[in-house]
Amino acid sequence: MTDTQTFSIASIPGDGIGGEVVAAGLRVLDTVAKLSDGAIAFDITEYPWSSEHYLEHGHYIPAGGLDELQKHDAIYFGAVGSADVPDHTSLWGLRLAITQPFDQWANIRPVTFLPGVESPLRKADDTELDWIVVRENSEGEYAGMGGRNLSGRGPGNEVALQTSLHTEKGTERIIRFAFDLARTRPVKKVSSVTKSNAQQYGMVLWDEVFARVAEDYPDVATESVLVDAMSAKFVLRPEELSVVVASNLHADILSDLGSALAGSLGLAASANLNPERRHPSMFEPVHGSAPDIAGQGVANPIGAISSAALMLDHLGRPAEADAVRHAVENVTEARILPRDLGGSANTIEMTEAIVAQLEAIHAEAAAPMPTP
Ligand code: NAI
Ligand code: MG
Repeated sequence: MTDTQTFSIASIPGDGIGGEVVAAGLRVLDTVAKLSDGAIAFDITEYPWSSEHYLEHGHYIPAGGLDELQKHDAIYFGAVGSADVPDHTSLWGLRLAITQPFDQWANIRPVTFLPGVESPLRKADDTELDWIVVRENSEGEYAGMGGRNLSGRGPGNEVALQTSLHTEKGTERIIRFAFDLARTRPVKKVSSVTKSNAQQYGMVLWDEVFARVAEDYPDVATESVLVDAMSAKFVLRPEELSVVVASNLHADILSDLGSALAGSLGLAASANLNPERRHPSMFEPVHGSAPDIAGQGVANPIGAISSAALMLDHLGRPAEADAVRHAVENVTEARILPRDLGGSANTIEMTEAIVAQLEAIHAEAAAPMPTP
């Protein structure tokens, strides 16, 4: 019997459906550990940092909170956002307050078309569609640079400046990441997205870095597409996509479009990676706190569960990650679907169906091979 590999995970459910879907993901991880026959274990520490916590204490992350997070192997995050706190306060107070100082500069957002899930794209019925949005996650439009001033001039005269920051280093590292990722995929292609016709400084720098880095990857096909054209391409010619790399804002918008095309925002998973592993990486569904359905127990847990699979990949357990993805596919293929996908299964029913599939996959793998 080998020693147990124990992963220390920080869990931050946050607001709204964040808690419901994080609970679902942790249930799946618990099953993964049980089925590993002692090979792996998860040591989960929950941090109650939410908008409620902010309203009570005046902060999302307490003093020393990041030092606490730094001790963990990974962070599993739900969502943040509440009607009682301005959205920019909650996002900068919790999510960006982790991704920025931990330099989680690569945000990976696979667009996955699951069997049994109806896509609004007719093409999805008979075309193999599967691409990954790689989002620059540390600078660009979300660098947080700028300010508001001149309110002293009286009503109607305020000025706000929101500056995008594009560094050559920041651009190069995310573009190299995209090329390296493309090399691991069946279709070796990177599509770079900018708006360099209108934004002649930062986005032209991006285009130039992309062209330079591409020379180091002659085996990978490339294209540079403006973001407006890429939005159309997502809908009209998505079969031509494999890895799509874009700035913080553009990739954020495109990934919501991608997940909607795959069937629902509730499906989309993401990883905020610090590839150098100087800091823990953070795994979270793409969706927000969904206040319109929070507390009803009907949130789709697939985005959160698939984010847990990305966490398993990052922790060096790709077989377990694949088993989780396979279990999700089996469940949707059997048309066990949550409300946002036209089904009637609630969050717990979805989760238990996925757990049951994991157990079935494990039992099948453990069964002796039939003798010829
Ligand atoms: P949202 O993603 O929370 O919801 C958009 C729509 O998708 C809603 O109709 C919601 O019910 C539905 N939806 C989302 N996830 C679902 C799931 N798992 N199952 C079923 N339906 C789902 O985006 P919205 O409404 O723009 O923002 C709500 C709050 O979340 C805001 O405060 C916003 O700032 C915050 N937010 C936080 C994010 C994060 O923590 N990473 C990301 C996006 C938004
Ligand atoms: Mg978004």
